[in-house]
Amino acid sequence: METFENYINGEWISSESKKTFSSLNPANKEIIGYFQSSNSKDVEKAVKSAEQALPSWSELPTPHRAEILLEVARLLRKNKEKLAKIVTTEMGKILKEGRGDVQEAIDIFEYIAGEGRRLFGHTTPSELKNKFCCTIRMPVGIFGLITPWNFPTAIPGWKLAPALICGDTVIFKPSSDTPLCAIEIIKILEEAGVPKGVVNLITGSGEEVGNPIIKHPKIRGISFTGSRDTGEFILKNAGIKKIGLEMGGKNAIIIMDDADLDLAIEGVLWGAFGTTGQRCTAASRVIIHKSVKSDFEDRLLSRTEKLRLGDGLKDTTDIGPLIAERAVKKTHMYTEIGKKEGAKLLTGGCPVTDLKGFFYKPTIFTNVKPNMRIAQEEIFGPSLSIIETKDLDEAIKICNGTEYGLSSSIYTANINKAFKAIEKIEAGIVYINSSTIGAEVHLPLGGVKDTGYGREAGWTSIEEFSYEKTVYVDYSGRLQKAQIDIVKINKQG
Ligand code: UN1
Repeated sequence: METFENYINGEWISSESKKTFSSLNPANKEIIGYFQSSNSKDVEKAVKSAEQALPSWSELPTPHRAEILLEVARLLRKNKEKLAKIVTTEMGKILKEGRGDVQEAIDIFEYIAGEGRRLFGHTTPSELKNKFCCTIRMPVGIFGLITPWNFPTAIPGWKLAPALICGDTVIFKPSSDTPLCAIEIIKILEEAGVPKGVVNLITGSGEEVGNPIIKHPKIRGISFTGSRDTGEFILKNAGIKKIGLEMGGKNAIIIMDDADLDLAIEGVLWGAFGTTGQRCTAASRVIIHKSVKSDFEDRLLSRTEKLRLGDGLKDTTDIGPLIAERAVKKTHMYTEIGKKEGAKLLTGGCPVTDLKGFFYKPTIFTNVKPNMRIAQEEIFGPSLSIIETKDLDEAIKICNGTEYGLSSSIYTANINKAFKAIEKIEAGIVYINSSTIGAEVHLPLGGVKDTGYGREAGWTSIEEFSYEKTVYVDYSGRLQKAQIDIVKINKQG
């Protein structure tokens, strides 16, 4: 079994700790490799290397950084099938979704490469004569990227591509559940010609690696996707840094009485059980008009019970495993909580015992009240709560009645209701007649309320990884005082 190393200053090296940990295939619990259990000494080395690499990398004309990004995209595309299989083997999502994950990484590198010839600032008039004002984009410096396991190539891509185009250098700590995917990305960056020290990969725990990264005074920015608790910890401990946080959701699909129910059922199945419910954008609540509830439930139930669980590499699998034993336990804990709270279990509600990996039956609760814990807390597994509503106003109120605000959707044939939902839903993303998942890389992704702040992907990702420097050029040849020297308007023209 192969042991993989950290990547620091362009070299593959072992951790100072001399310890390793393993990564498992969640579909069969087989070990797929060993990785460095790194510590703060490794972080220190990586920071030194990122610091040394920063001046020449940030001074490289941006179109040349873009060429490297395009090469990364080309190599990702060339290796797409191999990478998709690694995603499926290490993370468990079905192969079709594994391909989607890699495609998302390809797309972001291609999209962001275009910024090489944009990276726009602004120009604006001055209040004084003979004076020029503009902003230019500058790198933040060394960025710490802390990524989750559920999109093990796409989310690193969302962070790496804009950090690199903006001229930052990077310390990258991937989730300990998917270090192999991170290693494969780094190999591609290396082959594409990213200079040594520009991207440094350190594997290991949040405590031993994440902690020293977030607290390091030379690391000027942190981009984090993961749990709310970790995000809150980062905010409290990182000191003064540029911080982007994307911390999940309790996303809802609202279904009105005029909705196309067939379409809504497809969206609910895909949103709730796609990626085994392990997306920040997954739909974990359905808020449905009472007049269509029972019809919807009957049809949803029969579709759900036909879903085939198994190894994501097999064509016959609809739903893969959860990431780990802890996720099975957590999902089941919420099943128990839901039952105790008085919700009605329609289907599922238990782990699957005749498969080797970490499998849990797609679970649906109905008669859920908006304030029950199963309707408030992020489960991050295949567990869906159905809540009844009497009208749109109430549905929106329920939808907004959680501390999260990432992605929500409404199924309706009524354009007025759709626009009302667009305006009133408190979320970073709103879908109309579509599920809560499937964000595209050239649009911003992020949330409101406890989901966090900052926007990944899209043009807004540039704002995450750079700052705007304001420039004033006075070519009057004398001291002009803003706010004090008043330019006289000649009434004669
Ligand atoms: C996430 O779950 O962290 O919209 C991101 C989607 C994906 C991204 C999800 N493109 O579901």
